[in-house]
Amino acid sequence: MPSYALQPRALTVGSGSSAVTTTRWGIAGTGGIATAFLDDLVHVPTAEVVAIGSRTRERAREFAEPRGAAALTYGELVAADLDALYVATPHPQHRDLVLAAIGNGIPVLVEKAFTATLPGAHDVVEAARQAGVFCMEAMWTRMQPAVLLARELVAGGEIGDVTSVHADFGAYRVYDPTHRLFAPELGGGAVLDLGVYVISIAQHFLGTPDGVTATGTLYPNGTDASASLLLTYDDGRGATLITTLQAATGGRATVTGTRGSIELSPPFHHPTRLVVRRLGEEAQQIDAPAVGRGYAHQIVHVQECLAAGLTESPLMPLQDTLDVQWVMQQTLEQIGVSPQEGTVDLTTG
Ligand SMILES: NC(=O)c1ccc[n+]([C@@H]2O[C@H](COP(=O)([O-])OP(=O)(O)OC[C@H]3O[C@@H](n4cnc5c(N)ncnc54)[C@H](OP(=O)(O)O)[C@@H]3O)[C@@H](O)[C@H]2O)c1
Repeated sequence: MPSYALQPRALTVGSGSSAVTTTRWGIAGTGGIATAFLDDLVHVPTAEVVAIGSRTRERAREFAEPRGAAALTYGELVAADLDALYVATPHPQHRDLVLAAIGNGIPVLVEKAFTATLPGAHDVVEAARQAGVFCMEAMWTRMQPAVLLARELVAGGEIGDVTSVHADFGAYRVYDPTHRLFAPELGGGAVLDLGVYVISIAQHFLGTPDGVTATGTLYPNGTDASASLLLTYDDGRGATLITTLQAATGGRATVTGTRGSIELSPPFHHPTRLVVRRLGEEAQQIDAPAVGRGYAHQIVHVQECLAAGLTESPLMPLQDTLDVQWVMQQTLEQIGVSPQEGTVDLTTG
């Protein structure tokens, strides 16, 4: 199989401008993904973390002091002088933080799943649009060099008209009803945590489906353990998607068209390789590595959007977030799960 490699894209913000400014980030949450995001921030010289918010001052200090950032409560964080806020709390604890930050004019990058519910997502999107404040779901997959390239190839007609997407994302996790991945009050379940990726990749290449048919399994506490989805389009296109917390799956996504296919090699949610199969030709492998763990690309993208004065990302527009959230809601309703939004203590002091 012929192959070639792309160099990682340079992680610079803006093009041709001599005025490079630093974006001062705040981070809400001190868990796993907040740590990964901070680790990758070092790859973006124009990004700086200036404040960390936590439910407890002690935890905020533990996290912030080694990084030279201010240790704040969530209430203080959403009122702080920031250029951007990254929200890395569990899904039901996104909405309150994001609404407060938007209310104070702070641009927000919100972890997936954007919210726990579709009404929660609508609340946030309406607030952002009304305030004219930048807001984006942290669907970092869309900013990966390999995914950007796949989109370019599709737009260039390399595989003809896209007719279907197939994607799977499963990980084996030991059931622990107190853990974020399983606890209903923390938005537990496969669909909001992993299913969001398969749905979002289908949305990215096919657009909003006309129909959703889903089946799945539940844990003893009623959160979803797995789901299989068929997304249908009135013109005959379709997507077959699976997600589970009960088994490691291949983690592959394939976009198929009338003249070939593009495989986003595992793990498709941050792939570093594509396999392009054109009708009548030998498969071509293309390496497109990411920088660091891959989170820096979305940081750069947000900073570029802010520098350009945008209030929405062209790669991850809010309508796509709402449509993905709608598919998740349809899926969860069909398998008998009703997530709820939570609350976040935003008192200061
Ligand atoms: N993009 C990715 O690759 C990726 C990977 C993993 C997770 N995520 C997303 O990021 C979010 C956080 O996931 P995570 O794995 O980082 O979770 P985590 O390790 O459990 O951390 C979540 C943090 O949120 C804060 N928090 C605020 N309110 C909370 C509450 N009521 N209960 C528990 N924690 C609360 C906690 O910090 P304090 O105690 O300091 O307040 C906690 O450390 C989720 O939405 C998840 O889907 C994204």
